[in-house]
Amino acid sequence: MAPTHAGGSAPARRRVLVLGGSSEIAGAIVAALARREPVAASLVGRDPGRLASARATLAGAGVEDVQDVELDARDIARHEQALDQAVAQLGGFDLAIVALGVLGEPGALPADLDGAVESMQLNYVAAGSLLLRVAQRMRAAGAGTIVVLSSVAAERPRRANAVYGSAKAGLDALARGLGDELQDSGVKVLVVRPGFVHTRMTSGMAPAPLATTPLAVAEEVLGALDGRAQTIWAPSPLRWVMLVMRALPRAVFRRMRR
Ligand SMILES: NC(=O)c1ccc[n+]([C@@H]2O[C@H](COP(=O)([O-])OP(=O)(O)OC[C@H]3O[C@@H](n4cnc5c(N)ncnc54)[C@H](OP(=O)(O)O)[C@@H]3O)[C@@H](O)[C@H]2O)c1
Repeated sequence: MAPTHAGGSAPARRRVLVLGGSSEIAGAIVAALARREPVAASLVGRDPGRLASARATLAGAGVEDVQDVELDARDIARHEQALDQAVAQLGGFDLAIVALGVLGEPGALPADLDGAVESMQLNYVAAGSLLLRVAQRMRAAGAGTIVVLSSVAAERPRRANAVYGSAKAGLDALARGLGDELQDSGVKVLVVRPGFVHTRMTSGMAPAPLATTPLAVAEEVLGALDGRAQTIWAPSPLRWVMLVMRALPRAVFRRMRR
């Protein structure tokens, strides 16, 4: 699984860009990668304190060089500049992880509508903007892998998660189309659909069936980096659960409250 870049030679370290730099799932992926090979990482995120903490965790996990770039991803006008800063730190990207996201208030008609719109903008528009901009750079370089953290919620949003799920559905669809567009370019797009993962995002919530951990998601992702799969589920049996969920008649599906 040697990283490559535009020149075709293998750099000494895999250069990893994390969009949502303090994400626990992304952190677990980078740490797991660092156990297998040399890694340099640039963490792009909005909170200096959480970025510093993520940097310290990854340095402790053996990532050789961890830097960060401050970006509130809602500020789309700054996306190119932030990516330029990350390129200046790493020299380019072999792997990008699109991990930014917020769960937001549950339900299809939340009380805080401004908050709902903000979460839709972050989960789809901001994440999609960064995804497209990274893809453009990787296509120009002729190589790279983009891991997009989607969700099982994207497959068939429920009334309980319609705002979040619909934005993730947009991102998931964009990532799949992009993967098809880039199929002969040397760039791979891997769509990851986790179920319930025990992280800061879900803390205090009752775990859903097949709940998993960031480490387990990381292992699924690492297993798929060089494979042929372009969409994976974490844990993998969720693929079959979601097959059934997608087939449920709407009259049954609409009664699901969680
Ligand atoms: N946990 C789950 O059960 C689960 C399941 C399916 C999919 N996912 C997806 O997996 C991804 C990672 O989630 P996680 O579980 O690792 O949760 P997390 O630790 O809360 O990670 C979310 C990341 O998004 C960042 N973010 C939020 N708003 C931002 C903004 N305006 N600008 C820049 N960054 C922003 C957060 O930064 P801050 O530290 O500044 O908040 C954090 O780094 C998310 O896209 C999530 O939707 C999670």
